[in-house]
This record gives sequence, structure tokens and C-alpha cells, in this order.
Amino acid sequence: MSVKIAPSLLAADFAHLAHEVGRVPNADWLHVDVMDGHFVPNLTIGPPVVQALRRVTSLPLDVHLMVEAPERWLEAFARAGADRLTIHVEATVHLDRLLRQIRELGLHPGAALNPATPVESLRYVVELVDQVLVMTVNPGFGGQPFIPGMLRKVAEVRRLLESQGSHADVVVDGGVDERTAPHLVAAGASVLVAGTSVFGDPDPAAALTRLRRTARP
Ligand code: DX5
Ligand code: ZN
Repeated sequence: MSVKIAPSLLAADFAHLAHEVGRVPNADWLHVDVMDGHFVPNLTIGPPVVQALRRVTSLPLDVHLMVEAPERWLEAFARAGADRLTIHVEATVHLDRLLRQIRELGLHPGAALNPATPVESLRYVVELVDQVLVMTVNPGFGGQPFIPGMLRKVAEVRRLLESQGSHADVVVDGGVDERTAPHLVAAGASVLVAGTSVFGDPDPAAALTRLRRTARP
């Protein structure tokens, strides 16, 4: 199974988003970080920007909701043209219900775990998700250092999925670069979200290709 690369637009130039999207034609998905200033101490973008992105790319839009009460936003992001919608386990007491709602809206559902959240919280929703996102930094900002202890967690998520016969993707997000990627893939990651290491490079497409190469399992 080949690894997918999802550049995170958080590290792109927000004044020229269409241009930035055009600089990563070799991406598998585009990762869009939505922050509400409550669940995480930062504010980013909402459905209108996703709608605008939808007009300029046919790449799958992988929307990562770092928001409280995500149930308020599922429909809006579906209408805006998101393909994949990941909600945080910590942001809802009705994870099962919301993952089913995302599926009913016709999107690929994902569940995300903050660094301190145990893998065990996913045990009874494995069959409902197409992806599990393991935060490898604390969510809220790009450019933070990778938390090495998360390698063990990635392996644990992969084991949990396999134990239930799930082929869901294991997405890693935060501090992913040419140095950390090979370890993450070896541990069981199948999608690498990369912000700074791709858009921080003068040639994002080349950086993405290098990342893909180092990540070859
Ligand atoms: C952080 C976001 C990430 C962020 C990763 O809360 O979820 O997607 O863009 O940025 P880098 O790759 O710079 O760590
Ligand atoms: Zn993200």
C-alpha cells in the first residue's frame, strides 16, 4: 500500500490560496485545518474558504475540524465541498452519532486524537471511520516539533484497526518531515499531513516528492 501525502494549507500563503494549491499538483489530498478559537487557541478558516478551494481543485479536500460542538458544522462543510471530514474525539460526547452523520452526508468520516487521548477511545467506532488522525503535536499551530512518543500510538492505532479487520487510513499530523516520515510509516501511518515541510520549501512539489520517497515503506 503506497503512502498518501496531504499538504496542509495552514502553512501556505493565505493571500494566494489558489496559487498555493497549484504548487502541489502531486498531492494526494489537500488538508484543511479548521480552528474555532475554543477547542484550540487559534482561528483559521470556515466553509466559505472550503467552497472557494473546491472551485480551484479536484483534489480531495480533507477537512480537519478542531472545533467545539462539531455537530454544528458538518452540513456546512459537506455543502461547501469537503470530501473527508475528521472530528476530534475530545470535542463531542456523541462520537458514534456524529461519525454516522458524516457518512450519511456522503463524506468519509474520520476521528482525531489529541496527543494525550488514549487509543482505547476508538475501540467501539472502528467500523464507522475511514481514517484515524493521530495528532503528533498539540493541535492549534503549524511548525511545532514532533512528539516522539506518538510513534507508539500510531502503531497502537494500526493494531486496533487490524484487530477489527479495518483498512481505514492512519493519518499523522504535526511535525512530519523527511526525518520523521520513515518512522511514522514503519509504525503504520498511511497518510502524512505535512505543512511546514512542504509549503515552507521554495519548491513545495519537490519537497512533497522527497517526502514521498523517504516514506516508502
Ligand atoms: C495543527 C494542524 C496541522 C498543521 C501541521 O493543529 O492540525 O495540520 O498544519 O503543521 P506542520 O506540518 O507544520 O507541523
Ligand atoms: Zn490538521
